[in-house]
Amino acid sequence: MKMMKDILILGIESSCDETAAAVVKNGREVLSNVISSQIEIHEKFGGVVPEIASRNHVEAISNVVKKALKDANVKLEEIDGIACTYGPGLVGALLVGVSYAKALSYASNKPLIGTNHIEGHIAANYITHKELKPPFLAFVISGGHTHLVHIKNYKQFEIIGKTRDDAIGEAFDKVARVIGLGYPGGPKIDKLAKEGQANIQLPKTHFENLDFSFSGIKTAVINLNHKTPNINKADLSASFEKAVTDVLIDNSVKACEKLKLNTIALAGGVSANSYIRARFLELQETKNIKVYYPEPVLCTDNAAMIASAGYYNYINKITSNLELNAVPNLKITNID
Ligand code: KG4
Ligand code: ZN
Repeated sequence: MKMMKDILILGIESSCDETAAAVVKNGREVLSNVISSQIEIHEKFGGVVPEIASRNHVEAISNVVKKALKDANVKLEEIDGIACTYGPGLVGALLVGVSYAKALSYASNKPLIGTNHIEGHIAANYITHKELKPPFLAFVISGGHTHLVHIKNYKQFEIIGKTRDDAIGEAFDKVARVIGLGYPGGPKIDKLAKEGQANIQLPKTHFENLDFSFSGIKTAVINLNHKTPNINKADLSASFEKAVTDVLIDNSVKACEKLKLNTIALAGGVSANSYIRARFLELQETKNIKVYYPEPVLCTDNAAMIASAGYYNYINKITSNLELNAVPNLKITNID
């Protein structure tokens, strides 16, 4: 049997507050995964400051990419393609990774592969779960997105439900800030909620279709916190988590029934949440739905996921030219 040549993709990610580079083999095997986080820099402002993010990406990117190649023990000449996130994200932050990848592609004569950040979050599951193959339902729950996506094959997607207002991660971060936990709020609510009881009633928004809304519940938590100075913040965190998770679960189950799928892959920063993971895992028993999620380091922004999604672009001959630009509101794209 003829052996297939291994394909090595260098991934570069700079869409928000992590500067990251990674080398991934055949879309599934991580050879290196370097993440330089700016969280501490933005913490004192209570959120990501775009100008500061761009400046820090510029300072970090060269060393991050060099370290990714060194950790993987490969030379640039051995790489088959350079994948970079070109959207969605902060335009100035994206431009740093895109420009760096373009220069590297030009200098090394390797294909440039513009890659969608959301497709990257979904692809993180391919790294953690070697057996996972389309079709399945992906649920992207991150700081910027709440998308139920029908993954028909590696490059054919259909969004079947999304948020009409805040992304779920935004709601976590906003609630955390208001109750005094600081930024980034998701992991802090996750921790505090473990000490509390979900005993506070909060409103849940349901729609006829598979869309979401989190602004009502977010406002309810903020008002309660304002009106009840002695409210138990651990109970409030636990109640918030339970209320949003109920809605996430309801719509996911409805989506599986509608599409006749029995596999859900969670993706994005909020899929690191321990309560959400546990609740989704119950579906394996109660609904016979197989649930996947990436290992924690691959849930939040990283470049291994970009190299994996970039690999599926590369083998489907989707590469970019040097005109590639950052697209802050990039949507998930299909090939036909
Ligand atoms: O995917 P990500 O790193 O960036 C985007 O593409 O948006 O997601 C960041 C979001 C933030 O809102 C953060 O608070 C949330 O993911 N997050 C969590 C947890 N870890 C990160 N939310 C809830 N529980 C967690 N453990
Ligand atoms: Zn992300």
